[in-house]
Amino acid sequence: MINDSLVQSLHSHLAWWGLKTFTSDADYFSWQHAQLSPADLAHLTALAGQKRGGERGHEIAFYDLTAQSQILPVLYSQRYEYYCAIGSRVAARFGNADRILDFGCGVGILTTWYAAQYPEKQFVGIDRSPASIAVAQEKAQKLGLNNLQFECVDVEAGHVQESYDLIVATHALMQAEHDPGIPSRNWQTFERARDAKQQTAFEQRTGIGVRLDWLNASLVQKGRMIVFEKTRQLARCVPFQRALATRGLELAEAPERIRYQLIEEVADDGPFYVVQKAVGGLLDWDESPEPDEGRPFDRTRLKTDSHDPDAPLYENHGPSAQGVWEHLRDRRLISETTHQEPDGRQVHVELGQAEEGAYLYCANTFDQRQLVLVEPARRVMLEAYYQEIVSGVL
Ligand SMILES: C[S@@+](CC[C@H](N)C(=O)[O-])C[C@H]1O[C@@H](n2cnc3c(N)ncnc32)[C@H](O)[C@@H]1O
Repeated sequence: MINDSLVQSLHSHLAWWGLKTFTSDADYFSWQHAQLSPADLAHLTALAGQKRGGERGHEIAFYDLTAQSQILPVLYSQRYEYYCAIGSRVAARFGNADRILDFGCGVGILTTWYAAQYPEKQFVGIDRSPASIAVAQEKAQKLGLNNLQFECVDVEAGHVQESYDLIVATHALMQAEHDPGIPSRNWQTFERARDAKQQTAFEQRTGIGVRLDWLNASLVQKGRMIVFEKTRQLARCVPFQRALATRGLELAEAPERIRYQLIEEVADDGPFYVVQKAVGGLLDWDESPEPDEGRPFDRTRLKTDSHDPDAPLYENHGPSAQGVWEHLRDRRLISETTHQEPDGRQVHVELGQAEEGAYLYCANTFDQRQLVLVEPARRVMLEAYYQEIVSGVL
């Protein structure tokens, strides 16, 4: 359970690391400029750009730089709310695990807190950034933690030496942050084919396959793993979940979607997964899109819901638009086009007429849906919109 004293001790710990909390970007950036020289900032920006390419050497260089004493508090203060959201959830789930691994622990901000909270448990933090591990070791010593060890290990190269009751991997399993994932079978469905080639390619591109294999081999029978990555889009979430499931890891808890602030920006990450090895009969994996905030469709209230004369009768930009489109009455096609984009996604655009009005429907294999419904007399507006989309994509 997350309790107030746990949360309070996390705030104190983050302050000990020199992290500050901000609610305004302007305040944060003025502090950042006071702390870092233009040369530091330029260096950081350049290495962050290179890291995005996903190359191992660039990733290590970036994390080594972020471990420098003047940069560390400034950069990691941006993630203050992330530490609060994740740290408190992870720490509330150690249960009776004795040996706990924090994979990709970075400079050990959370690992040192976990160890300080649970002096009776043994913690190991591993990371492949030598500078991050050096800082982690120094801080653990300053905190007088003797139940914590840090090691500089690249799990992609190393051999499994230890076994753990619980492994934590938060924002550390998936490289290639911008990888789109795997597309659905076609624009009419959110379902993904069980295609081993596609899955393997995803696991290789994102590095998750080799990392999970290593971690899984380091987990005791019935051991648990807590994993949290940027997998909110269904196209990334499905292959991520399949990567866990095919390694015999099953859901021990219903996955939790987590929203936290990155100063003024809202981050929707996760879900937060707790999985367990070889137990059997736990919860089912869910591969359907998450419920969206699309406007519910009520055909009897289409006109009365809006006071704006130019507003469409109905508009929905979420996955639930598909169900509404499927249930339009007496749907008749006027024009349609389906094509393949250079990145492989299949896109469908359709203009039609239904009992409820004229409509424009767009759908693609990366789960985007858009439905706009207008009065029949305003169909010409949708026709122009349709032409614009079609000439833009063909
Ligand atoms: C985004 S940081 C996350 C740090 C920390 N887990 C947190 O939540 O704040 C990702 C870390 O994973 C480490 N990492 C990535 N791949 C790794 C690998 N194959 N072996 C060891 N560490 C790795 C990186 O060096 C980096 O420090």
